[in-house]
Parts: sequence; structure tokens; C-alpha cells
Amino acid sequence: MSAKLRANITAVGHFLPDYVLTNAELETMVDTNDEWIQTRTGIKERRILKDPDKATSFMATQVAKEILETKGIDGSEIDAIIIATVTPDYLFPSTAALVQREINATNAYGYDVSAACSGFVFALSTGASLIESGRHKKVLVIGADKMSSIVDYTDRATCIIFGDGAAGVLLEPTTDDVGIIDFIQRTDGVDGELLCQKGGGSKNPASIQTVQNKDHFLRQEGRVVFKKATESMADVSIEILKRNNLTNEDVDWFVPHQANNRIITATANRMGVDIDKVMINIEKYGNTTAGTIPLCLYDWQPKLKKGDNVILASFGGGFTWGAIYIKWGI
Ligand code: UT7
Repeated sequence: MSAKLRANITAVGHFLPDYVLTNAELETMVDTNDEWIQTRTGIKERRILKDPDKATSFMATQVAKEILETKGIDGSEIDAIIIATVTPDYLFPSTAALVQREINATNAYGYDVSAACSGFVFALSTGASLIESGRHKKVLVIGADKMSSIVDYTDRATCIIFGDGAAGVLLEPTTDDVGIIDFIQRTDGVDGELLCQKGGGSKNPASIQTVQNKDHFLRQEGRVVFKKATESMADVSIEILKRNNLTNEDVDWFVPHQANNRIITATANRMGVDIDKVMINIEKYGNTTAGTIPLCLYDWQPKLKKGDNVILASFGGGFTWGAIYIKWGI
């Protein structure tokens, strides 16, 4: 019997805009303060893509180019491009199509995945399945969000949280005992409107009214989302450990979505994972939505070792949540 074909992460790339929006600058914009933001969220600063001519596809393209350069391969070798985002350049064409054009991925098809903060986790499992099918040899999976394009910088409940950024991975097949081993994903639309951008879609197409109502900005019921995120991320992470006969001690790295440091630590505590095994960079970048998890993988690359047990976990709008078990393979 031939060994099982798995998807292995063989390169990681990233892009962060240069502009740093500090808590001190936010204090000049809304009624908030550095102490509140740091104790309630863990965030010190976030990056903002200031150039009005540049959007999410620009950031995703830089990620793709870094990956191609790292691997020394040409865009024409890519089979598929999956971009997780809730801030696409356009409703259509997809961000993936724009990236395909920029990197000359002449043999690739692609599409966007809309699962908010779970976007990267959902896109990664999709990419892994394409590799496991045996039909694809090189799949790019990128999480990219220009959150500043949908954040209301007069709303202190949301503007302190989000930042812009992108990162992603290249997936390639392997028959070694590494790669993406398992995933669990959930969607529950019952409370979808509690974390939502109401304007600009087919229900509330752009009009003078939607602009006056500020419907093109995201809104969230923070407390409800907080509670649900803490419960759901822990539940699904514990479930994936059990299903793969792993204990908390077996986890080398836990990679949670970076929405709030209190959610991250509560989840790690419920899993029984030591905090020094948890990737946390929220203080530098805030919540970059689909970007947070691959940005952690990028930052921790020098510490990751072949064979490490890595658990990714996310929670976001939809609601959507999920966990992925990876045996690190580079
Ligand atoms: O990534 C997708 C998923 N998203 C999340 O997971 C986010 C989940 N939610 C959260 O992270 C938190 O709910 C927030 C960070 C958004 C808010 O923190 P909180 O501890 O839940 O605060 P709260 O909304 O309960 O507000 C507490 C107080 C309120 O004042 P009163 O009513 O107690 O007088 C707010 O008006 O803090 C006030 N407040 C602020 N004060 C200073 C809210 N925002 C701010 C602010 N600065 N920026």
C-alpha cells in the first residue's frame, strides 16, 4: 500500500505595511487610552496600508512573491491560488485573479475564501484537500486583509483592534509523516449579524443612505463575540487533540487567531498548553483578520522544527471557527 499523500507547508511569506498606528495616535482620534487598550486586548500598535492606490491584492502579491523567491520557483509552476479575505479589492474579480496576474501564474486558477477571521484556516484545509487529491503539486494559500478599508476610525470599540497585513504558505505534496494531518471546522450563521459589514452587498447595495448610515464599516457586539470565541476556539482545539490521541504535553506550538490576548490566554489555559508554547504577536499587529495565523507562522519560523506538533485555531465572523493539526515539515 502506498504512503498517504499529505499537504506540507514548504515555505512561508509575509507582508506588513510600514506605517505604525500606535495606541498614542489612537488616543488623539477617539476617547480611549493606551492602558485600556493594552489591558483589554494586549495590542500596542498595528500596521496600516496608507497608500490609497494599494489594496489587499498588493499585500497578497508581496506574500506570493516572497514565497516564489524563497523557493526559487516561477509563477508558472503554481497550480492554484486561494486567498482568504473579507476586504477584497473588488467584489469581483477575485483577489486571487489579481494575484495570479501579478505573479504570472499562467497555469493557475484561483478564488477567494470568505470566512472572516477563520479565513486562513478554512483556506488552508481547502488547499490541503487539493494537494491530497493528487491533482495539484503547488498551491498558494494566503490570508490578506486591509482592515483599515472597513474600520470606522470614530468607533472606539472596533478601531483599536484591527490592523492591515498578510501572510501565506506554499503547499506541496509529501508522503513523509509530516504536513497537514487533520482539521475540524464549523459555521453557525444564527448570530451572523453580530459581527458584520452590512453595506455594499446585494442586501444593502451602496447608496447615499448606506454611506450616511456608515453601513460600509464593520460592526461587532464585542462582549458576545468574546464569549463565543473563547468557548469555541478551546472546544475545537481540545477536540482535535483528542481525535489525534494527543495530550496538551504533545503540543509544541499553539497558533491562535490574534483577536484579543485575553481570548488567547483563556483558550490556552482551557487546553492546558503552557503560554510559552503559544504564538502571540498581537501586540505588534493587532487583529489582521485572515492574516494573523500565517503572520505568526512567519514570525516563529526560526523556532519551528521538523516534526513539531502545531495546532492552529481560529474564530471569526459568520460565526466561523476551526482548528488544524499540522506536523511541521520543513
Ligand atoms: O476577530 C474576530 C473575532 N473578534 C473578537 O474575538 C473580538 C472579541 N471581543 C473583544 O475582544 C472585546 O469584547 C473588546 C476588546 C472589543 C472590548 O473589550 P471588553 O472588555 O469586552 O469591553 P466592553 O465592550 O465590555 O466595554 C467595557 C467598557 C465600556 O464602558 P462602560 O459601559 O463599562 O462604562 C465601554 O464603553 O469599556 C468601554 N470601552 C472603551 N474604553 C476605552 C469600549 N471600548 C473602549 C476603548 N477605550 N477603546
